[in-house]
Amino acid sequence: MSNLAVGIVGAGGITNYHIPAYQEAGAKVVAISDLVIKMAEGQAEAYSIPNTFASMEDMLKGCPEIQAVSVCVPNKFHAKVAIACLNAGKHVFCEKPPALNAQEAVDMAKAAADNGKTLMFDFNNRARPEAQALIKYIENGDVGTINSAQALWIRRTGIPGFGGWFTQKPLSGGGPVIDLLHMIDLALYFMQFPKPEWVLASTFEDFSGNPDFKGPWGIPDAEDPIVDVEMAAHAFVRFETGQVLYTRNSWAELNKREEVSVTFQGTKAGGMVRRLFVRDGIDETAIDDCELYVQENGKSVNRQIITEPDEKMGREAAVINFVQTIEGTAKPLSHPEEAVILMQVIDAIYKSAESGKPIEIS
Ligand SMILES: NC(=O)c1ccc[n+]([C@@H]2O[C@H](COP(=O)([O-])OP(=O)(O)OC[C@H]3O[C@@H](n4cnc5c(N)ncnc54)[C@H](O)[C@@H]3O)[C@@H](O)[C@H]2O)c1
Repeated sequence: MSNLAVGIVGAGGITNYHIPAYQEAGAKVVAISDLVIKMAEGQAEAYSIPNTFASMEDMLKGCPEIQAVSVCVPNKFHAKVAIACLNAGKHVFCEKPPALNAQEAVDMAKAAADNGKTLMFDFNNRARPEAQALIKYIENGDVGTINSAQALWIRRTGIPGFGGWFTQKPLSGGGPVIDLLHMIDLALYFMQFPKPEWVLASTFEDFSGNPDFKGPWGIPDAEDPIVDVEMAAHAFVRFETGQVLYTRNSWAELNKREEVSVTFQGTKAGGMVRRLFVRDGIDETAIDDCELYVQENGKSVNRQIITEPDEKMGREAAVINFVQTIEGTAKPLSHPEEAVILMQVIDAIYKSAESGKPIEIS
């Protein structure tokens, strides 16, 4: 069991996965901080955390025993908080997206390397049992090279409230591309992070202020909301290797229903992982499936891989993997250089959409 002492920065919704996961891994959550101290106090009471602070700086000063920090603040603050914690000699588990852009992800990776500390990101969909089942086939060579993949996270009515930090580009970095980057990340993970070369993309702002397209979660509406992010995005990525990836992300798009999936076509096998929604748009009711497609003895064979359901959607498993990585008992599920590649793709999607031109990633 772990003796790791952990501090949490930001006490919002996602900490309901981080805190129990640390506790399950045997780590001790010794402090939680939030600019809104009531938020920190609420979570401290709910999970018996002994110390609360109104800032990350006060937390690091007040609890020097902290060895690792979870960064659970809005996207704009990921890089700043993570780098400060790494420079203070702490390991860091940072929520997704890694940062607002690739340069910030590079700076975070450098801070981790300079301080010799572990920096991991909450790419929780990699930690899901289905993704872990598929990656074993891929790593064993059973899939061959993934020539092409399609990554979808599309919502018909999924705007996370009007005027919270999610819908303000300076705070979030963007809309569904950056918020729902999980399937793009998962496709890159399956493709084993080839170097992206060209990106061509378009984004759409239709339905931006329309309450009919709001999701059943998110932040309550502001009185005079700022909504300056895309509502849907379609992109095509070509890698130096010739491999290609199509991505589609939306919060508001006239699609039949929510779809979350990665499909891929390998030189030896194709495959797919997807989330099936019992009720549209509700994460908690999702079940997943994954399959491999091969030709055997002159027949098309579809292999359904049976995995145990994970109602926590890999969010707790990813935190437990972070603890075990620090302890040296597990291999890390994410690496800082992968976060840089992911953010390069996302930067290029936005640049291409803005310029109307293909973007070369140097
Ligand atoms: N992996 C996932 O599936 C998943 C799901 C939801 C959210 N997230 C990510 O988690 C992060 C937080 O999301 P959330 O839904 O918990 O948001 P939230 O708005 O519920 O909570 C954020 C909290 O951070 C606090 N805060 C803001 N700036 C701060 C600072 N500089 N220092 C300390 N506290 C600060 C706010 O007061 C707020 O209480 C985001 O980056 C989001 O993208 C990931």
